[in-house]
Amino acid sequence: MEGVTELKISTKDPARLATDALVIGVACESGAPRIEGADALGKGARAGIERAITLLGVTGEVGEVTKVPAGGELKADLLVLTGTGAPVEDPETARERLRRAAGAALAALAGTAHVSLALPVADAESLRAVAEGALFGNYRFAEGKKAKEPVKAIELIAPGVRTKDAKGELARAEAIADAVHGARDLVNLAPNLLFPESFAARAVAAAKGTAVKVTVLDEAELRAGGFGGLIGVGQGSARGPRLVKLSYRPARARRHIALVGKGITFDSGGLSLKPAKGMETMKNDMAGAAAVLHAVLAAARLGLPVAVTGWLALAENMPSGSAQRPSDVITIRGGKTVEVLNTDAEGRLVMADALVAATEEGPDAVIDIATLTGAQMVALGNQVSAVMGSEDVRTDVVAAAGRAGEQFWPMPLPDELRASMNTPMADIANIGDRFGGMLVAGLFLREFVGETPWAHLDIAGPAFNDGAPRHYVPKGGTGVGVRTLVEMLSGSAQT
Ligand code: BES
Ligand code: MN
Ligand code: ZN
Repeated sequence: MEGVTELKISTKDPARLATDALVIGVACESGAPRIEGADALGKGARAGIERAITLLGVTGEVGEVTKVPAGGELKADLLVLTGTGAPVEDPETARERLRRAAGAALAALAGTAHVSLALPVADAESLRAVAEGALFGNYRFAEGKKAKEPVKAIELIAPGVRTKDAKGELARAEAIADAVHGARDLVNLAPNLLFPESFAARAVAAAKGTAVKVTVLDEAELRAGGFGGLIGVGQGSARGPRLVKLSYRPARARRHIALVGKGITFDSGGLSLKPAKGMETMKNDMAGAAAVLHAVLAAARLGLPVAVTGWLALAENMPSGSAQRPSDVITIRGGKTVEVLNTDAEGRLVMADALVAATEEGPDAVIDIATLTGAQMVALGNQVSAVMGSEDVRTDVVAAAGRAGEQFWPMPLPDELRASMNTPMADIANIGDRFGGMLVAGLFLREFVGETPWAHLDIAGPAFNDGAPRHYVPKGGTGVGVRTLVEMLSGSAQT
């Protein structure tokens, strides 16, 4: 899934660019907005822009985008002022503001052919942030109803960055943006079109011609392999479950990381049926699997020297005469038994199978990612994801997320809550205390990772934006987690 947008750098005077839209940053320091970046602008051009800022009441807040006919000393047709906020010390926060400023501008410029951005890029890393934000904001659901065309060519004005460094950063930004967009596309696909078998087929197609090898276990193979979680959750659907394994094995790898993604292509709740409202966004219940697929593909495209195995646990959770019942007892791969007291707590069942399969290969660490609990949204909302698990891996994930510009917050796994899943009928029940429901789900998963260092990412809220678009986040699938996983893998490649 190579991007269609052309991305290049320029060291020209922004005033002299014959472009459809020239994007300029406006910072806001102690209430006074001022032009940021665009250092090469001459006095006359600068005065014209300052006049526009004053007359239009531009504040410089992040996310604020103001379009003005350019004219005067600017050769561009349109002048676009995008807020970069108040200056901040922390470089990661500063870069994320640049991403958002660039993304907000591009999202507002859909339908434009050629956009030039003059934002404050002090170094190669902030250039990448601007490139990423611009590309993220320029997303359009490829298979959707045709909305405005995305911008065809994006030009970044970066006089301070060496061309060689810039090229590398742009290539990386493109790889990451393609991965994020690939994950968004999968989430956005309607669930009648994306089901376990078709998801697996798309994974096979996407990996074709790459260094990623794909194997797909079908329903019969899953049954034979003792994958009772995938079978149990999938048995209510006319469309059977699949387990997809993606292997990337570069020659110089020193570490092996396994990634496991929840891929419920639609979560009706099963016989523990969800209310209608609760089902509306449940096509997004495969966002973890989408993130894993595209993180593995990105690792291969970037040639990261780390071995990666991705596992996509794919099933559709439906009620029917063949569906699993509340109180069924199932056997997860490896032999542990689970009493399924609530068929809507299905994600942990398919994840248990996949976590066992992942750990069987003896990876150095396993990271799972899932739209696992509504409780995640109660705890952290729609823009902050949770990470639980072994302290070292959890800490690495939080740090990687910070570098990547995503928000992941550490949460505990209190041993005390484990007893709430005790049952005389099996090794564990699939539900426990309602309070701390996200942590209970994490504790459930912990039973299936053995001694392998592990982190669990709950992205239930952040995976899907059912509100208005904001900066580079469109409506619908967000692609959350992709950047953090790729950054994690990049970090693992270095140690
Ligand atoms: N897929 C849902 C979690 C979810 C809810 C994701 C809202 C995104 C938005 C999951 O399978 C689920 O239904 N969890 C239940 C678990 C409960 C029955 C213990 C929940 O959170 O209500
Ligand atoms: Mn559910
Ligand atoms: Zn679910």
